[in-house]
Amino acid sequence: MAENLTIPITSDKKEIYRTLLPQIESLVTDEPDLVANLANVAAALKQAFKFFWVGFYLVKENQLVLGPFQGPIACTRIAFDKGVCGACYRQKDTIIVPDVEQFPGHIACSSDSKSEIVVPGFRNAEVFLVLDVDSDQLNDFDERDQEGLEELMRVLERTF
Ligand code: SME
Repeated sequence: MAENLTIPITSDKKEIYRTLLPQIESLVTDEPDLVANLANVAAALKQAFKFFWVGFYLVKENQLVLGPFQGPIACTRIAFDKGVCGACYRQKDTIIVPDVEQFPGHIACSSDSKSEIVVPGFRNAEVFLVLDVDSDQLNDFDERDQEGLEELMRVLERTF
């Protein structure tokens, strides 16, 4: 297992995802422990992109419960009918929020968070967890993030 990430010195997001994904794949493949893998993925994304907050919420007890993350402390439980994470759970699809203040029901874990992307991860065709990434910049996520993070999720799902 690689213990250091190689991150290209570029602002080209596509290039960063392209370099990062095989490294994440080798980090999580052959490691069956969910918490260990989610923790490393959160750390890798934070290190590669310097996102404000990166973390997972897992479906537990009929709600979303905070899992491994990197960044400031966050709310621990999110009802399925609340927030961007709840909307992602219900829609079973990625949600990009360019300006969190314009998203009805957005849960502000930090007032510094300005834009957000949430990507669902599936087990047995059900949403098993969501990956939430927050930025302190407005409009910081686009189709490059959606494509890269969805591809990452397909890699991660093979370990669930
Ligand atoms: N903003 C999220 C809540 C989680 S925090 O951003 C870490 C939401 O509206 O679901």
